[in-house]
Amino acid sequence: MKFFNVAVVGATGAVGNEMIKILEERDFPVAKLRLLASERSLGKTLEYKGRHLPVEVLKEDSFTDVQIGLFSAGGGISEKYAPLAVQAGCVVVDNTSAFRMAPDVPLVVPEVNPEAIAQYKRRGIIANPNCSTIQMVAALKPIHDAVRIKRVVVSTYQAVSGTGKKAIEELSEQTRALLGMREPVVKVYPHRIAFNCLPQIDIFLDNGYTREEMKMVNETKKIMNDDAIAVTATTVRVPVFYAHSESINIETEKKITADEVRELLAKTPGLKVIDDPKNLRYPLAIDAAGRDETFVGRIREDESIANGINMWVVSDNLRKGAALNAVQIAEILVRDYL
Ligand code: A2P
Repeated sequence: MKFFNVAVVGATGAVGNEMIKILEERDFPVAKLRLLASERSLGKTLEYKGRHLPVEVLKEDSFTDVQIGLFSAGGGISEKYAPLAVQAGCVVVDNTSAFRMAPDVPLVVPEVNPEAIAQYKRRGIIANPNCSTIQMVAALKPIHDAVRIKRVVVSTYQAVSGTGKKAIEELSEQTRALLGMREPVVKVYPHRIAFNCLPQIDIFLDNGYTREEMKMVNETKKIMNDDAIAVTATTVRVPVFYAHSESINIETEKKITADEVRELLAKTPGLKVIDDPKNLRYPLAIDAAGRDETFVGRIREDESIANGINMWVVSDNLRKGAALNAVQIAEILVRDYL
């Protein structure tokens, strides 16, 4: 068996931490693990397989002798350091949005378009999609293959961990402040997130959508390899720590019943159907946190149109939405290409 030197860029962050855990859990063939972050983290150590590894400062020459780089330290860092890593002989799996829409960079969800990984040779980079997009396309793909999806209307309920560690702290601190009758401090988001919902994720664009919403529109078309799918999204930040929830409405070309959707999704790897309304069972963020599957429930026919389905899709945004998806891509890379 071959082993690989792996670097995690942004190792001290919310996604980076999860990447280290998942490499360990899945027994990825790691020869040497390099943990990279900013100068702020100098002197810190992180645990991997019972050992405390030092965090190193990310530098231009950090990738000498590294074969796989998992990047999650922000778009600007990826733009600068991913090409340097590639030059040094490393294949980069990038969790930021820096390269997602580049035509010569594959954008991959292993359950949906694993064949696209072969395109990594063009730039040496494989992009990991946006967290909300990953769980949505995972649930849509089998339906699209069966009856062709014409249009998707999605509203998201996204956890603060998607913004990073600072946002996790902000929700905790604001909650404590409000319960203690103190004035909450607003730093990370434009408004208070505790006991609130913010219909803004990322910045606003000229068309009135946010960048997060347009990521869902554009990335879905690229991953599903179908520009004809119409997607409209409203992305909302909610006071939840882990796992994103999504209300998804689809219109299909051919009729599919709710039972048929349930059956189809239940046999799809990576998905788990929890849909037992009589017993009040449906996917919940608190149950999805820490799990690998994408959970689907509340599956029902949309009675307002001829061929429509509604469903509720929940997944751990740090795992399937980020770190797990990246490690799954790396697993296929080492199995089939390196
Ligand atoms: P650090 O902890 O040293 O700031 P999150 O998404 O949870 O906010 O985490 C962001 C990750 O990206 C952290 O690991 C952070 O490291 C890292 N990071 C941010 N800016 C830089 C930088 N300029 N160079 C290297 N790593 C960075």
